[in-house]
Parts: sequence; structure tokens; C-alpha cells
Amino acid sequence: MGLVNLLSASRGENLFLPAHGRGNALPKKIKRLLKLRPGIWDLPELFEIGGPLISEGAIAESQKSSAYEVGVDRCWYGVNGATGLLQSSLLALASPGQAVLMPRNVHKSCIQACLFGGLIPLLFDVPYLTDRGHASVFDRKWLQRVFKKAKELEDDIAAVVLVNPTYQGYSADMESLIQEIHSHSLPVLVDEAHGAYLISQIRPDLPKSAISFGADLVVHSLHKSAPGLVQCAVLWSQGEKVDPFKIERSIELLQTSSPSSLLLASCESSIKELFESKALKKLKSRIEEAELLKDFLIHKDVPLLKNSDPLRIILHTSRYGLSGIEVDKSFIKNRIIGELAEPGTLTFCLGLSSHKRLGKRFVRIWNETLKSFGRQKPSFFKRPPFSIVSKPYKPFSCCWGSSFEKVYLQDAIGRISVEMVCPYPPGIPLLIPGEILDEARVDWLIEQKCFWPEQISDFVRVIS
Ligand SMILES: Cc1ncc(COP(=O)(O)O)c(C=O)c1O
Repeated sequence: MGLVNLLSASRGENLFLPAHGRGNALPKKIKRLLKLRPGIWDLPELFEIGGPLISEGAIAESQKSSAYEVGVDRCWYGVNGATGLLQSSLLALASPGQAVLMPRNVHKSCIQACLFGGLIPLLFDVPYLTDRGHASVFDRKWLQRVFKKAKELEDDIAAVVLVNPTYQGYSADMESLIQEIHSHSLPVLVDEAHGAYLISQIRPDLPKSAISFGADLVVHSLHKSAPGLVQCAVLWSQGEKVDPFKIERSIELLQTSSPSSLLLASCESSIKELFESKALKKLKSRIEEAELLKDFLIHKDVPLLKNSDPLRIILHTSRYGLSGIEVDKSFIKNRIIGELAEPGTLTFCLGLSSHKRLGKRFVRIWNETLKSFGRQKPSFFKRPPFSIVSKPYKPFSCCWGSSFEKVYLQDAIGRISVEMVCPYPPGIPLLIPGEILDEARVDWLIEQKCFWPEQISDFVRVIS
């Protein structure tokens, strides 16, 4: 069919990201821009335009005004997704040889940053929901336990990363977590990839952005949780703990030398949408529409799980013994495309466009799916065999350069991995380079392989 043709093909109901829903919810100004002579907007860092790291020009002005609107000191737009800005943040927060404390459900980009920054990823366990097979959020007490263990393992911890909200839309009490981290005099980077629209504080019952609780650095994926084009992101910084020079130096290291002005304009306009009254009215009505849809589905006995994000629907497939990955295929056949298929759930992202007549169709597809697979007993998932905090056995950079061999998972006991095992989405690593494959981890990975047959291989590459 060819890529160009594929891009214009219809895909049914978009319940996947980007959140603008194939253009429906793009800001008006961007829609207008894209309707002009094709390519007219494709410009590099010209003098009047500038770029995210250039102190003069339209982009510098725009970043200043966005930071002012949000109430932080500085911000930088990004054209390589939250991925690029999370990685730059980590390189700004820690020096080679220092450790960064991160939750086990951290996005793979943060682990990758440890590789090229020579940082030690100190990974801490997070609560796990055995009825649905994915991670949950944790509280201050949990984090205090993590700190106690982490300090026994490593005395040079430079920073802490938190992920909030999660991909499925669960949200923690961020105020107390940030307070705890600051009580150890450490800076905190919050991966708020899925929570950009929270900065609008549109309703008091929705979670607040970590920015309002004093997080030092916060990264938003503007295509995941605001109406930005794919690849758009922003990094917000406040306070004295992280030197802006170090942030800029790290962005420069990873950013293309020709950032797209179209994407940067999309960063600007998607942030503006989170503050302009007309756009906010629309966002409010999307949220209300999503809440009505959820109520309707629950009323029709569709098993949905509770979360804190009205725009994310978590279908609890394992409640009837079904895999979210199999149920996803059935929805796709019926032209409803979800976002995140996992062994026990299927998460749909409603995004910022309207889905008015979705309810009845959703119920019909779910009921047909249930009938065709047969209603089974609920399935439960084993907790991952992670210690409360763990440090890779070998430094990352050492594994990267090591010679390796490919062995069957079951033959890997006692070996050191050189690869990341990481189903995508969600992009949360189950194994990282430098970790030892003990018996419990191997058994668990073999079990995970059954759940993610197309994503996890029979083999793993280990140091030879
Ligand atoms: C929690 C989290 N952080 C960061 C990212 C990376 O975002 P982006 O696609 O904007 O690079 C993802 C992507 O799935 C994610 O789920």
C-alpha cells in the first residue's frame, strides 16, 4: 500500500494516541497552518524563529510566556517526545557514576539515559495489582522504605524519578512523595507524559500536576495528554536544585540541530490550549462526555477499572479470564482501536476528540467477544520477583561493550543480561542490561512470555 497511502487510510474509532484523534482536536491555529500551501511551514531555526536553545527569537519568547503562564522558572519545547526530554533531564541531574532512584515502572527512555550518561539505575519495586497484572501507585511510607534500602546499597544518589499518572491513568498523592524526596535534599524529575492536561487545573477533583507541588523538573508528552502533534513535548523547571546550564547542555547533546518549526509551533499551541477559556470549555465537555460514557458502560456490565483519568478507560479483561491482547484483536476487527493491550487489561485513550456514539457499539463488541471466548473464571497474576531496591550487577556501559551470546530463557539462570526485555507499549522494562537472571526472574520471564507471545522472545542475550 505504501506509507503515504497508509497515512490517509481510515482506521475506525481512534481510541489510541496521539490525543488529537487524527486531527479532530488539533488547535485551530495549527489546523489553519496545515491547510496552507503544503511545506510552507517546514522551516529550520531561522533568525526570527530561533530554537529551544536560542535565547532570542519567537521560540525563546514563546517558551518564556509558557513558563510564566504555568508559574515555573523555565521551559524547553522538545521535538523528540517525552523520551528526549526525560533523557536530557537525567543527564542534567546526575554525573557519570552517580545513581538515580527510579520506580520499576519507569519508561525505557530513562534506563537508556543511564547507559549513555554512565549513571546507575537504582530500581525500586512498586505495588502490583495481581487481579489485573500491572503496577499501581505508592504512598510516602512505601517511598520511605525504598529510601532506607537505597541508602544501604548506594551512597551517591543524585536524584529521584517518579512516573505520574501511569499509562492507565492511576495517580498518587504527589504532594507527600515530593515532600519526602525533598526531605532527603534530592531533586525530583516527574515523568508526567500522561498528565499534561492536568496543568490546566480544570476541575478540583482531578489530580494536580506535580508542578504545583514543587517538583524540580516535569516532562509532558504533548501528543499523549494535550493536543500536540506526535513527538511534541515540554520540560518544565523550577527552583534552585537543577542548574539550567546543565539542562541546556544536555538538551543540546540529544536534540537534532534542525528542530522542526512546525512541531515547535505545535508545542506552543497545545500548551496554550490548556489555558485559553474556549479550549478549556471544550476540554471540560470532553471530560464530562467521557464520564457519561464510562457510567453507561458500567451500567451495561462492562468491567471497567477505576482510575484518576476520565479520558482513559481500562477494560478489565482478566476479570473473565481473558487476555487484553486477545480482546484487543477482537476490537480491532470491529474497527475500535485501543491504545494499551496488556495481559489482564485493555486501555483505551479517548483523547481530546469527541466519541459521541461509541457506547452502544462498545457494549456490543464486548458482549460478542465475551460470548466468542466464553466467560471464564477471573485470572490472577504473580507478583514480579523484584527486591524493594536493586542495582544492576554490572555497570551498564560495561554490558553494552561486552561480547554476548544468545541463549534460551530457561538456560539463562545465573547469567547477566546485555539486553532490555521490554514489551511496547507500555515500554516498561522487565529486565535491563547488567541484571542477573536468577531462577525467580527466569521463571517469571517465561511466564510473561506466555502473556506477551509476540513481544517477548524465547531467547535472551547474555554476557558470554
Ligand atoms: C510513562 C511514559 N513516559 C514517557 C514516554 C515517552 O513518550 P514519547 O512517546 O512522547 O517519547 C511514554 C511513552 O509511552 C510513557 O508511557
